[in-house]
Amino acid sequence: MVGNLTSLDRFPLGASVRLADLAVDPYPIFAELREAEPVTWVPEIERWFLTRRDDILAVLRDPDLFTTDAPSTIRDMFGAHMMTTEGPTQIRYKRKCLPPFHASRLASASLLRLTAEVERLVTGLRSGGRRAGEVRTGLARPVALHSVLSVLGIPLSETDRVNEWYEHFARALANFAGDPDLRAAGKGAADAYGRALAPILEELERKPDGNLLSDLVCDHVDPLTAAEIRSNSLIILFGGIETTESMIANAVWALLSHPEQHETARASPAALDLSIEETLRWEPAVQSAARHATRDTEIRGVRIAEGEVVHCMLGAANRDPAYFEDPDLFDVTRPNAGDHLSFAVGRHFCLGAPLARLETRVVLKTLWARCPGLRLDPDRPSAPYGYEFRKPPTLQVKWDR
Ligand code: HEM
Repeated sequence: MVGNLTSLDRFPLGASVRLADLAVDPYPIFAELREAEPVTWVPEIERWFLTRRDDILAVLRDPDLFTTDAPSTIRDMFGAHMMTTEGPTQIRYKRKCLPPFHASRLASASLLRLTAEVERLVTGLRSGGRRAGEVRTGLARPVALHSVLSVLGIPLSETDRVNEWYEHFARALANFAGDPDLRAAGKGAADAYGRALAPILEELERKPDGNLLSDLVCDHVDPLTAAEIRSNSLIILFGGIETTESMIANAVWALLSHPEQHETARASPAALDLSIEETLRWEPAVQSAARHATRDTEIRGVRIAEGEVVHCMLGAANRDPAYFEDPDLFDVTRPNAGDHLSFAVGRHFCLGAPLARLETRVVLKTLWARCPGLRLDPDRPSAPYGYEFRKPPTLQVKWDR
């Protein structure tokens, strides 16, 4: 462990890092760290921070040395699942859950229901001839919830309960101070999910519906156990809500704050896709991926002890000038925008990335079609906030009739 004195002496910039400052604007802090202390110890959370893209790639691609398979709140709360296992177990879990996220299945099964849901929500925003609305909680959040419930095959009537459980999970995971009540509430919510899931699985076994839970419960070749279905569906549910809500909100916010870039993005489907990659690079919804060192090791000559936690700061990697030219510039024509690490890399590359991209694409296209003159409301400004999940707390927009 890095003692306080040593830490202050050796990592003065790391010692000055405050989560509260990262929440407001992490990028100038990342720039300083990347330049002067690319491997640093942050006493506030007692973890290592990495900020250079190369170092982050090396760590995320070496699961033998830097693992997710270690005690953590997310494992404690949900049980072992694809994100907290490595090797054959993780590969088996991920393979079993992958099919509904393939582009072909998304194009056939998810696109129609997603488009219909986004149309319905945008119609609601415009109802009564309204020409202004809030699109984070009013659009991005319900789209993300609807999509992940649909892919899993959880009845949409459970939406409110899922939302409530989600809030408990999120508070338990952000509980760096170790408040036992928050931890217990998170675990209680996961247990409640497990109780609600059992009858859903029984029903799906009798009447398969072609969605993920149904595929898993009807699988007869090395099937996942009920506990494994519970834990892996929990991480999919957790992974698919706030992340995607934030990704959609950040994309809308980034494009509307740069009207010229917004115009460029609207020119063609390819321009739209590249602009979504640039929004992911420039303002990623998830800021870090954590790994536990499996043995004593070194990064750039800095000793990392077995068991210590290394945070790969994805938003810092995405603005590394060694890889991205003029990295703070938001440029929707940037040719290598798609090389961002916002969905991580390696074995734990985000399972839901294709769905999250599809949701963002459908939301933007629907807003463009239904809300001419879409722009930020200048009287009610907002900006992304948060050190782990980043998104605008509210996102007020206006449009013409
Ligand atoms: C439908 C939406 C989504 C679903 C269902 C989902 C689900 C998941 C799952 C299950 C994993 C674990 C994969 C594994 O360990 O093998 C994962 C990893 C990850 N996801 Fe997503 N995700 C979604 C959207 C997003 C979005 C929008 C972002 C950020 C822009 C994101 C960022 C990540 C990152 C960074 C990881 C890797 C974490 C790590 O390696 O420690 N996800 N996701």
